[in-house]
Formats: sequence, C-alpha cells, structure tokens
Amino acid sequence: MSIAYYDKERLFKLDTGSSTYVIGIVDDEGFIGHAYYGPRIADHNIGYLMRTGEGPFVPSKNGRDRTSFLDTFPMEYPTHGVGDFRDDAISVRTVGGNSALQLRYVSHEIVQGKPSLPGLPATFGGDDVCSTLLLKCTDKDLKLDVILSYTAFEDTDAIARSVNVINSGSDDIYLTRVLSASVDMDNENYDLITLHGSWARERRINRRPLTTGFQGLNSVRGESSHQDHPFMAVLEHDANQDRGEVYGFSFVYSGNFLAECYVNQYDSVRIMMGINPIDFSWLLKAGEEFCAPEVVMVHSSEGLGGMTRSFHDLYRQHLIRSPYKDCKRPILINNWEATYFNFDTDKLIAIADQASKLGIEMLVMDDGWFGYREDDNTSLGDWIVNESKLKGGLKYLVDEVNKRGMKFGIWFEPEMISPDSDLYRAHPDWAIAIDGREPARSRNQYVLDLTRPDVVDYTYNQVSTILHSANIEYVKWDMNRQLTDIGSATLPAERMGEFFHRYMLGVYELQERLITEFPDLLLENCSGGGARFDPGMLYYSPQIWCSDDTDAIERLSIQEGTSLVYPLSTMGAHISDCPNHALGRTTPFRTRGYVALAGTFGYELDVTRIPEEDREMIPSQVEMYHKYNDIVRMGDYYRIASYHDNHEYDCYMVVTKDRSEALMTYIQVLNRINYHSRRNTASHMWMWRIRQRRAMIRTVHIQVRCS
Ligand code: DGJ
Repeated sequence: MSIAYYDKERLFKLDTGSSTYVIGIVDDEGFIGHAYYGPRIADHNIGYLMRTGEGPFVPSKNGRDRTSFLDTFPMEYPTHGVGDFRDDAISVRTVGGNSALQLRYVSHEIVQGKPSLPGLPATFGGDDVCSTLLLKCTDKDLKLDVILSYTAFEDTDAIARSVNVINSGSDDIYLTRVLSASVDMDNENYDLITLHGSWARERRINRRPLTTGFQGLNSVRGESSHQDHPFMAVLEHDANQDRGEVYGFSFVYSGNFLAECYVNQYDSVRIMMGINPIDFSWLLKAGEEFCAPEVVMVHSSEGLGGMTRSFHDLYRQHLIRSPYKDCKRPILINNWEATYFNFDTDKLIAIADQASKLGIEMLVMDDGWFGYREDDNTSLGDWIVNESKLKGGLKYLVDEVNKRGMKFGIWFEPEMISPDSDLYRAHPDWAIAIDGREPARSRNQYVLDLTRPDVVDYTYNQVSTILHSANIEYVKWDMNRQLTDIGSATLPAERMGEFFHRYMLGVYELQERLITEFPDLLLENCSGGGARFDPGMLYYSPQIWCSDDTDAIERLSIQEGTSLVYPLSTMGAHISDCPNHALGRTTPFRTRGYVALAGTFGYELDVTRIPEEDREMIPSQVEMYHKYNDIVRMGDYYRIASYHDNHEYDCYMVVTKDRSEALMTYIQVLNRINYHSRRNTASHMWMWRIRQRRAMIRTVHIQVRCS
C-alpha cells in the first residue's frame, strides 16, 4: 500500500518509488496542513515539520491571533478570505455576496487504483500500481464539501491530484476559483522553470531564480497556448540534468490555466496550479458537484533528467490510451508544405506513387479538401468533399492510395466555422459571439459554440460521416484560433462564467466519441502547430503536432522544451523542404532526418519535386526509423547538451529500459574554431567524445551496444 494513515499522529503518508508526500491534520478545528514533499523517507512521524509548536500556534492555543496562524501555516488547500493572505486555491460567491470559506477535515478513504474524472482527461492506473487518498473536508457554514484526491503511483515518482466540490447546502453558490493543487514549501533558494513561446516558437525553456512575490504563467486564450505552457518546475539553484532536487507540476488540461508561485514575507513558496480564475465562475446549485482537472506532481532527486523520465513513463503508461501508444506509427507524408491549398486527386496520387516506392507508409491530405476552400477564408464547418478538386470523390482517392500499399489520413478543423460557409449561413448562432457585438475574426474564422450539446452532436456526425465514407486510418485534428468575444446563444447569464471550461468539456466529448467509435484510428492533435500540446490532449491522441516551424535547427529548441515533459513518441516531427518555409534556412537533408527521428517521424514536402540526392536518401532514413524507433519510442531519455543554451551544438540520448542499447544524436550547428573535442560522462555508464567538424550543421548518430 503506497498510502497510509497514522491515526495517533493524524498523518497521511503517500509514497511513490522514490518520493514521499505527507499531509497532517492539526488542531481541534481540523486544519489540513502540508508537512513534507521530497525524497522517500521511512519515518512517518514528521508532523513537527508543520511547526504548530512554534508561535503563532494553532487557534485552540491562541484564538486571539488566528490570522497569524492562517497566514503562516503550510495549508494543504488554502481558502479565501479568513486570514491566509497568501493566494488561495478556492474562493466562492454566496447568494449574500460573500467570498470567504474555511475548510476543515471531515473524513477520509484510501482506495486501491484510481477513480476516473467524469468528462475529463486524467491519468489512470490499476490496483497493482497506485492507490488514492480521498480526503473530505468541509466549510460547515456554507455546507460546501471538498474532496481532495491524491493518487500515488508506485512505478513512477508521480502524484496526481484533483478536487471535487459539492454543494451540500440548499442555497446556490458560485465557485469563483477552484485550483487543482497547492503546495507550501520553504524557499530553499529555488529556481523556476517555465515554457514559453509563440506560434512556430513553442515551449522554449526559461529558467530564473524564484524571487519574492508572484511569478508564473497563464493562458486566457481558451487553449493551453503557444505562448505559455501548463507546466512548471521548481528546483534547487544548482540542480542540473543529473543532480539536485526538482519538483515538476503538469496540468492535465487543454484550456485556460494558471501556474503560479508566490514567495511570501517568510520566504516560503506557495506553488499553485489549476483552471485560470480569470473569466471563470461556476454555479453550483444544491446537490451539484464540480470536478477540477488533474495536476500531476513529480519529484526527482536526480535533477531534471529524473523528472523528465518520470513524466515520460507516467504519460506513456498511465495517460495515453491509444492502441498506437506502444506501436511504431506509420511513416507519413503530409501535403501541407508540399502543396498548401493547391492540390487535386492527380497531385496527391503522384505524391503517393513516389512516396510508396521510397518506403513511406501513409499519405495525409491536409487542409483544403472540403466546401469551396481554396484558401483559409472559407468553408470551415462544411465538411463535404470538394469534388471539383477531388475528382472521383474521396473514396476513389483513398482506394488509389491504398492500392499503392499506403494508408490514408485526413485533416479536420472541427471546432471552427467560417463566416463564409453554408453552416454559418444556416446557423449564425452556432458561432461564439456576444449578442449585439460582432466577434473578432482570426484567420478569418469563428469558433463553434461547443458548450451546446446540439452543436457537439452536429459536429461529431459531420466528422464521423466522412470517416465512414472511405478507409481513413488517421485524423489530424487542427484548431487554428484562440477564443474571443465569449458569449453563447444558449448559456444563461449566470452560467456565462462557465463558458471556457464547458467549451473544453465539449472538445473532450467530441474526441472521446471519435476514439470510441473508431478505436483503431490514429489521432494526431494539432493547434496551429503546438498550441495544444498538453497532457489533456494526450489522453485522446498518442501524438501531437509539435510546431509549424519545421526548420531542423529551430526544432532542436522546440523539441528540447517539449521533451522536458513529454515522451518522444508523442512529438509530431517531419522532414520538410528547404529553404525552410517558416525560416528560410537551408540545412542538410541528413540533419533534417536525424532531428525528425527524435519524434513520430514523417515527411512534409513534395517528394516529386525535391532534389534527386535528397530523394535518394529517403529509403535509408526509412530504414533508420524502423531500426531505431523502438528505442526512441520506449527508451529512457537523457539530455546531454542544449543548443538552446550553448548556441553551438545539441545532444541527447535514448537508452533501452534494459540498458542494453543506447542511441545518441549529436547535432553541431556551429563550429568553434580551434577548439578541442568534447568529452562527456553522461549518466556514468556512457563515455563519448565528438570532434568538432569544420562544416556547419553536422549530425552524428551513434548506436551504442552496452554489454
Ligand atoms: C496549422 C497546422 O499546424 C498545419 O500543419 C496545417 O495543418 C494548417 N494548420 C492547415 O490550415
């Protein structure tokens, strides 16, 4: 059992393979405090770490100064408005207009395995690998019950947390803030790592010292976003890839989020994560419940590398459900950068003809096959095949591709509606808009109001009809704009604050229905590149398009940031043509291949038009993919050098779980003149040395057998 309750000491001890988390109940009032999070310890009797024996003492011993206690005590789930002036995890608005609440321990239950979260993506695990603590607390005046849920995984160093709020009273109550996790720690001179970016520049690692006050990141864009990412790590100043204490926090959610650290007057740090309270409120009528999405916490004493490997294992084993999770994915060729909107049946068949001879296994038809779409100004929502482009129809094309021994995949952007579409002309009220205000267009499109069950149903049926019409084995689910002008024709005013979260529930329902009806479908999520590369989406699709920047050197930083949390098997990575369409740079075809091999691997170019010497290299790249993908997909990942940091070279290694083989990739982007060779003893077992080469952008790919 990885979770134990010690009655005498009123302590809960949660153990993972190498970490321990301890929660305590204190005082007659039943405050729930946080005692310890760190390396695994045998002793449970560490309630003294909550320092209730020091001033300002618990309220039963010093009711005169409750606020001093509440403002210093390490609260497990801090509440608003009663004396803890640090930021809170939950606040409300009552019918009387008040916002304060105070939670006290009521009861608890420890169960084997992990209950699922209704309508939400979440990690899962059987009775043999995890157990869950359900800690019930209440505000007795509001009759508001809160269940804090903690699942400890024994096979990875992860603890998953979520929160369920139940209105057990008779009055309506509005939740105005319900975060999913809060951890109070002493600030031992920590650094903070977050991931930031922009379109085509996603997930750049940013590390800086934690300092007094608020710091963190969020999204108000209706998606996890290109700009900020729902991940945060707090780590010792001198922690690096191999050494030091690291705490990672990852939000299993794809919409608006908040990830925040607050260092207070006593230099203690409160780490918080959950749904962004901005533009959020949720009406709980008597008897209703609200379930907040899950935060995964990982502790590592082996530096960032240890944290990364725990997240990779957890997400591979306990989040991704797709049958493709443990399989080599078909090598695909996508026509987006090959043709953009300018394609027809003949062009796609010509690409398939060439590609199949080179060993490529699937053709993916991207944007532009439906309605009257010749550019990005029209037809989203009209999911009807454009037969003037696809002569003979979709089935004919798919059959022709299949005849060439290739699978067929298709692009959709199901959440969108073009103002110039039959769907919009028929149902203008299906677009997100505020009554009387013209909504902002972005990429000349609006967003469908997926808070409405009728719109969800219609959208699902459109996608499903197309999938039934031909042998389609892959879907790229795109989402190309952020949400603005939040309004719904059907949500009542008192529920408009629920819009953003209800929208996400609509997206999750659509994808759940899709993978239930088409269990063998390979689903790849995408959002204008990587704006929704998050754990929420991985629950539905085993891979996500990483970025619209396919330049191999830019990809080094994007893939480094992404792989800090996500397994290589999830990173959509393709070889594209040069000069690169996003950046204009030319890199060797060989290098482009090595960089894409660190992800799902595929091509995004017109294979009928690339230089002959590049085309000739494809069969050997295909061979390498088949040879190495098992290691890449399932192995342990070691980051050895970062081009993002040193601006000269990048190096990473993947090692099989049985430690018998390792694959190392070294990319030298820039030479340093008159400099000696590199030496590294990464992870003690491997020593390597690489000579600086004279030419720019060189790649070395080494397979090491360790026996
Ligand atoms: C954004 C995606 O990231 C691209 O790969 C491509 O599918 C376009 N959308 C199509 O509009």
